[in-house]
Amino acid sequence: MKAVVVVGAQWGDEGKGKVVDYMAASFDYIARCQGGHNAGHTVIWNGKRFILQLVPSGILRPGKIAIIGPGVVFDPHAFLAEIDALAKAEIDVKGRLFVSNRAHLIFPYHRQLDQASEANRAGGKIGTTSRGIGPSYEDKMGRRGLRVADLLDTETFRAKLEALIREKSAVSEAAYGQPIDATGLVDSYLAMADRIRGFVADTAAMLWRAADEGRSLLFEGAQGTMLDIDHGTYPYVTSSSATAGGASTGLGFPPTGISDVIGVTKAYCTRVGEGPFPSEIHGEQGEAIRQKGAEFGAVTGRARRCGWLDLPLLRYSNMINGTAWLVVTKLDVLDELAEIPVCVGYKSNRKRTADMPAQASGYDKIECVYEKLPGWRKSTLGNDTLEKLPAKARAYLEFVEKQSGARIGMISTGPERDATIVPPGTRLAALLS
Ligand code: IMP
Repeated sequence: MKAVVVVGAQWGDEGKGKVVDYMAASFDYIARCQGGHNAGHTVIWNGKRFILQLVPSGILRPGKIAIIGPGVVFDPHAFLAEIDALAKAEIDVKGRLFVSNRAHLIFPYHRQLDQASEANRAGGKIGTTSRGIGPSYEDKMGRRGLRVADLLDTETFRAKLEALIREKSAVSEAAYGQPIDATGLVDSYLAMADRIRGFVADTAAMLWRAADEGRSLLFEGAQGTMLDIDHGTYPYVTSSSATAGGASTGLGFPPTGISDVIGVTKAYCTRVGEGPFPSEIHGEQGEAIRQKGAEFGAVTGRARRCGWLDLPLLRYSNMINGTAWLVVTKLDVLDELAEIPVCVGYKSNRKRTADMPAQASGYDKIECVYEKLPGWRKSTLGNDTLEKLPAKARAYLEFVEKQSGARIGMISTGPERDATIVPPGTRLAALLS
């Protein structure tokens, strides 16, 4: 069985879009398991830049089958806009893009509630993407959400949504003093039902059937381990399971069927939104990395916070996900530095600790212990073999391997597909052959 999960090892934006697009050449099915159009997977291909938010980035490979699984929260407006954009770029999705009938719907009032909740949050803002992701997952877990299958059942959809709007409006009025404006909402969703119908399937059954027939499956995680609802820097997290286990629950694919978990990490660290970030770099050096790495959100355009590679965090991520193989991205962003600090451990109350704090406030007491590695001061942009990398860049990667406990099976040295190194003889190379 070849069923591989690709998961973000940090706070999202690790470059999973490019990695999945690259790997997709060697797989038959590519499936998204969780999150929604808060994700921004950027792929550069033939000089064209694609930002995919809902559709798995494997769609850019002709003939591949792309799946949006039941664990995803689905905004039909965003979906239709994305397939229109793909059609404009002459990418044919017909017969190879499927949406789970069990995926929960996002409605405009989820966005309204996302913003109202952020503006009124007792503990301060989370810095969400304002896409209604959290409120839609709240309704799912509150067992009042509506799913894609409900939208297609056009005879009962109106009554179900109108009842829900009444309930949500009462809650919103009581909590935030603003009722929900649902003018035209039911009709606008019903109008989309027919366009969406042709894409809808029981995707769990599809995936299992495909696996049974010996097809290969690639599961594309969104966000990253430290944004996971259970294992991340709660409450500064997203509302879904962004760790490897989320691929199983989010797709209805048995954990025993997963053959490999691949973690994607930048050669440094970034995060968007609020919340703990032990190795954050403030001031000029952070700004220099932000500019060189074009660290601005693919979905919201927000400037990403930048920091040094955090190895305790990577070890934690490898533990939670069971990652044996890593992909290191954006190595070229560090090309000009004379020396590169790497966080090798945490100190709390002057004592070394291996624990990740359970409370966000626990990170206030955490101090990073840094080791400075020599920079290579040579361009690695576009390098496609290990031999082309400067010796000091290779030493940096070897240090990461040794310290994180996972092997590096792929290195990205630029946004283009061919700016990728896959050292031969590794498990990753075998998966791609
Ligand atoms: P939400 O997912 O919109 O509720 O946002 C919750 C947190 O997750 C915020 O800090 C967002 O910036 C972050 N977030 C959500 N999606 C992504 C992503 O795709 N990349 C990076 N951060 C994300």
